[in-house]
Parts: sequence; structure tokens; C-alpha cells
Amino acid sequence: MATLSWRDGRGNQEKYLLEVDGVELDLVQKKLGELTGLGTGGNVWNAVIVFSKWIEKNYGGGRHKDLWKGKTIMELGSGTGMGGIACAHIMKGASQIVLTDQAQVLSIIEENVARNRDRIPELEKVSVREFEWGSDVKAFKDPVSPPFDWIIACDCIAPIFPLHLLLKSMIELSDENTTILIGSEQRQFTQSFWDGARGAFDITVIPEEDMDPRYCDDDIQIFVFKKKKQQLAAQSS
Ligand SMILES: C[S@@+](CC[C@H](N)C(=O)[O-])C[C@H]1O[C@@H](n2cnc3c(N)ncnc32)[C@H](O)[C@@H]1O
Repeated sequence: MATLSWRDGRGNQEKYLLEVDGVELDLVQKKLGELTGLGTGGNVWNAVIVFSKWIEKNYGGGRHKDLWKGKTIMELGSGTGMGGIACAHIMKGASQIVLTDQAQVLSIIEENVARNRDRIPELEKVSVREFEWGSDVKAFKDPVSPPFDWIIACDCIAPIFPLHLLLKSMIELSDENTTILIGSEQRQFTQSFWDGARGAFDITVIPEEDMDPRYCDDDIQIFVFKKKKQQLAAQSS
């Protein structure tokens, strides 16, 4: 019988370990971050676990590698870095992978990238940078400028965050070639984000059968966002 034990206590452990495509990701967590000013980025959240196992199931083992060859990838709200580290491992051949978050979170991402470098050679292509949602995307140049080919974000759609700024950044960092992958736990009071997002992007939901059978739950979904044509026209005028 399927159990939800993978959801238990991840926030109380010093480390979170997860096997993804033959490699054990080894992530440190900072306990009580929400009480110490670090914010929510010190823990591995549930949606990024589901996301990492989904990408393994559908794209692991070097399948579909032309999708990422030479492509640029950005993670928004990276937290412990799990999503970006899993993508670096799966999306082999990407040219640049940039993991971003607020300034106070960057040292955790850097620590986790360093911890996993021996077993994931693709982490050589990973950079860790500050990016505050809503900030000027034209100023973001190092190591690569937007638009990105792929953008990922896990567990960033929560009412405690400035979701209008997250959406603004998603629009400004993307173009017609960008695919945005969002792993998200359903949360109340996020409707205005979804209304705005549906205005700017065509959004599809990954079907249940594509999810990892163990690492899934009814309230966690993965979405694929592609920019709508009228949004592209509005941006270019
Ligand atoms: C719930 S955590 C999720 C972390 C990680 N993606 C995961 O799933 O484990 C949300 C992340 O969004 C980041 N975040 C919140 N507000 C932000 C903002 N205004 N600009 C950039 N990042 C922000 C937080 O620092 C945190 O790392």
C-alpha cells in the first residue's frame, strides 16, 4: 500500500536524502529558518520532492537529452537547491543552470551544490545567484541573460509570498521558447496568482499517471507553463 511517510518530518531533520536517477541527493537543511530570519528556504518542501521524482521518472536515464542540450535553465526560489540539483543531474548537456533565491538563502544552496558535486559532475555548470522576484531582469546578466529556455520553481506559490512579483518575473524571464515547470502544493488564497498566470500562459497539468507512484499526493501538482501569443505581442509592443 502506498504510504505518505516521505512527507514526514523532513523539516525536523538536519539532512534530507533522496535517490534521484541512481544518485543519492544529500541536502542539508537549516532548522527553524522561519523563526531565525532565514525564511522558508532552509527546508526541502514537499512539492520539490514530487517534482524531482517526476522528472526522474519521465526524463531520467539520459532520455530526451536533446531537450536540454545547450539550453539555459533558471530555478526561482531554490531554497535548499534540491530542484535545481535534480535538474542538473537529469538535464544533462544544459549549458547553464542558475539557482536563485533571496540573499540570505544563497549559502545553503552553495553548500548543497558543493556537497553533491562529487557524484553529479553536471553541477560544474551550476551557478548560484541572488534574484529577488520583481527585480529588474535586464540587470540579470551573470552568468547568462534571460530569456531562459527552462525555468523551474517549486513550492513558491503560497500566500505569504509576493505572488504578483513572482508572476511578473516569470513573464519577464521567459519568451516563446521558454518552458516553465512548476511543482506546487495546493494552497488557499493564491487564486489571484492563478488568474494572472492563466492570462499570460497556457498551463497544463501533468497527469497523475506520469507521477512517481510513491512520491505523489492529491494536493501536489506539476504544471507546465508556455507563454500565450497575446502576451508575447503585448511584450514586444
Ligand atoms: C517554500 S520555499 C521552497 C523552496 C524550494 N523550492 C523547495 O521546494 O524546497 C519558497 C522559496 O521562495 C523563496 N522566496 C520567497 N519570496 C521570494 C522573493 N520575493 N524573491 C525570491 N525568492 C523568494 C524563499 O526564500 C524560499 O526559498
